[in-house]
Amino acid sequence: MIPRELIDTIRDRVDIAEVVGQTVSLQRKGSTLLGLCPFHNEKTPSFNVVPAKGIYHCFGCGAGGDVFQFLMQTQGMSFHEAVRDLGARVGVAVEERQLSPDERARMKARTDLYEICDLAAQHFEAVLRTRPEGEPARAYLRKRGMKEETWQRYRLGYAPPTWSDLVDHLARQGVSPELAVAAGVAKARDGREGAYDLFRGRVIIPIQDERGRIVAFGGRHLEEMPGGPRGDAPPKYVNSPETQIYSKSKTLYALSHARPAIQRRGRAIVVEGYFDVLSLHQAGFTEAIATCGTALTEEHLRVLRPLTTSVVALFDSDEAGVRAALKSLELFYAAGIEPRRLDLGGAKDPDDFVQARGAEAFEARLRQSEPLFDIALRIWRGRHGSSPDGKRQVLAELAPVVRRVDPATRAALVERLGRALDMRDDVVNEVIGLTRAAAAPAELAEPVAFRGSKELNHLLWLLIHHHARVAPLVAGVDPGLLTSRLDVARVIARLLSGEGLPAVLDQVEDPDLARVLRACAVRHRQVRDGKAEELYTEDQAAQATQQMLARLQLRLLDDRIAQVQGDLETCSFADDGSRYREVLVNKQDLVRQRQELLRVVTRKPPP
Ligand code: UTP
Ligand code: MN
Repeated sequence: MIPRELIDTIRDRVDIAEVVGQTVSLQRKGSTLLGLCPFHNEKTPSFNVVPAKGIYHCFGCGAGGDVFQFLMQTQGMSFHEAVRDLGARVGVAVEERQLSPDERARMKARTDLYEICDLAAQHFEAVLRTRPEGEPARAYLRKRGMKEETWQRYRLGYAPPTWSDLVDHLARQGVSPELAVAAGVAKARDGREGAYDLFRGRVIIPIQDERGRIVAFGGRHLEEMPGGPRGDAPPKYVNSPETQIYSKSKTLYALSHARPAIQRRGRAIVVEGYFDVLSLHQAGFTEAIATCGTALTEEHLRVLRPLTTSVVALFDSDEAGVRAALKSLELFYAAGIEPRRLDLGGAKDPDDFVQARGAEAFEARLRQSEPLFDIALRIWRGRHGSSPDGKRQVLAELAPVVRRVDPATRAALVERLGRALDMRDDVVNEVIGLTRAAAAPAELAEPVAFRGSKELNHLLWLLIHHHARVAPLVAGVDPGLLTSRLDVARVIARLLSGEGLPAVLDQVEDPDLARVLRACAVRHRQVRDGKAEELYTEDQAAQATQQMLARLQLRLLDDRIAQVQGDLETCSFADDGSRYREVLVNKQDLVRQRQELLRVVTRKPPP
């Protein structure tokens, strides 16, 4: 167990806006920051971060939490890992002995793999830069136009053409052959002890995860085109296998370097090869990323989506290429990303293009890039013609794409189709099979279920945002008169005692209650003309508090009066005169209290 105070200290010191901002592009709107939710697809931002309260909350899907939960939900960390990770960032050490033996073992193994990959990278770098046997690789990289600055920034290296250079080096650092295998840099010897190097005689391209930690490697053979016609020559690239810390289908090469540019320029350039990325970055296109020898997957897009809604990518122009492009069209739109096609004419790849023709020529191609959707539309129209039947076929081809997007994009696509095919939108809708029901919003399908009464939520809001003025007013009231729920009463008590919202939320088990509290924290002020202003003055807040307290008590009183009324109906004066009188007095008392409260409630409400 990590002590509570330590958790609170770390949470206080960490800037949640900065941590979330590394994954999600955020814009300031008054006291909150707004962005596209990384937990569901959306076109209009409903994802809020409230730095002052230390929480994030999405009004679209209800996701939310504090900075630890953000890392747990987006990076797959355990709570302990999140606390340790953030602790390290703000200089608070979390002792390992505070973990359970199980957690410690798991964590140790993972950390070791990162460490081993980094040790391996350091070794490959040293060979490339300083050792005599690195010369062929140095010559190779220079010939390919890679500047030393680039070697350094992307930590390029070289693995000499021997069998155990790395394994031996790691052994001297105390890394067992088994762990070298687990880290994906060595292979176990068949039926014998020990391991041998996976990368031999190759330029090494380290692959970093989202956070810049090295998790895998690609190794490029030094010859231009190895791989003889009989397939007996070595492959052009050798890549790390998947490991505990490396998943190909999620990893985008150079993303940790590209993230700021992707956010700043509002687009990502997705290419195929490591060297395409390196050459583009070197030419200033630092928003370029690549898959690691696999096709683009839904998981890749999920990583990319919080950063941008626009991707420029290369697609082959032959029949197979077009098929593949159209397949990916669905994938992109389903993820909420608009893909554009980068056309480099006859160039072999972006690396060749930018090395041969320079950054300006490449920039021009980027500007000319066309939405893949329009290209698809043109291709299908060419194929099916413009007879009424042909148009229907065109729509049928594109229907799977259009059906999967969010409502706003869908409406835009339908309009585009209508214009291109000279058809009315409702006809397009009908052919595509978008009945009214099918066109119902996919996004925000279910509004977040706010529990608790309007008055209770309002009171919580007042307590969160106008604590100093409101707490003394609420403190004088028995929580049992405000709510019949024990957990809500506890929340009120904690807020009264001045505990921070994340700490209060830690103790809340009901997810709906947690959502209500986070939503209250987000809706702090209104923004008018771009300027945030307080919803209430302090006096108005106090007045509103009185009102909410009165209304809540009124509601409970009404319940009790109804109960007493029921009692009155079951007992008669004739049978038990004294009990009847007692109940009646009780009722009259409650009614009197009610009238008093009513006077407070009907006083002029704050604006
Ligand atoms: P390409 O064959 O297009 O090579 O593979 P490239 O990127 O242009 O490589 P250079 O410029 O000749 O060095 C594209 C990507 O596919 C993966 C690599 O990730 C490569 O960057 N690949 C390719 C492999 O994993 N193994 C291979 O044998 C070939
Ligand atoms: Mn290439």
